[in-house]
Amino acid sequence: MPRLSAAGRHAVTFTLNGTDVSGAAEPRMLLSDFLRQVVGLTGTHVGCEHGVCGACTVQIDGAPARSCLTLAVQADGCDIRTVEALAGPDGSLDPLQDSFRAHHGLQCGFCTPGILMSLDALMRVRPDASEAEIRDCLSGHLCRCTGYASIVRAAVAAFEKARGGARES
Ligand code: FES
Ligand code: FES
Repeated sequence: MPRLSAAGRHAVTFTLNGTDVSGAAEPRMLLSDFLRQVVGLTGTHVGCEHGVCGACTVQIDGAPARSCLTLAVQADGCDIRTVEALAGPDGSLDPLQDSFRAHHGLQCGFCTPGILMSLDALMRVRPDASEAEIRDCLSGHLCRCTGYASIVRAAVAAFEKARGGARES
């Protein structure tokens, strides 16, 4: 359980992309704000701030979750992954990111981190996911740029490639 400090803030500690992080959070502070403002990782985007757009999606203990609907104190002791976990240390793109690049799955990119984290979570538990399952996964995300066709194409291609049936753009 988080510990309450004299200043009325809670000490929060969790694993973030494989590294332990700690910080102080007011009881009402959102996980999205904690990640961006306390930890300084701004890859997690904040759009609607009420659970609708999916831009703020991260993984909590392996499952996709809206970080704008999660209090920072609720993340105490959890294993959190954000979009920063995807690329390699040398900046090389992971297969999902590379497929979005190859298939033009983004324009402004505001929605992209959340989409990638949902798809990455799906790929880990359902590498054989059908296009219908992939579309269902994407249904929790709003994109104001692409019209979604290129996102679906990029996601389906990434899953196909991951199971050995490479499809080029
Ligand atoms: S910012 Fe969290 S769902 Fe939109
Ligand atoms: S690429 Fe701009 S909101 Fe999706």
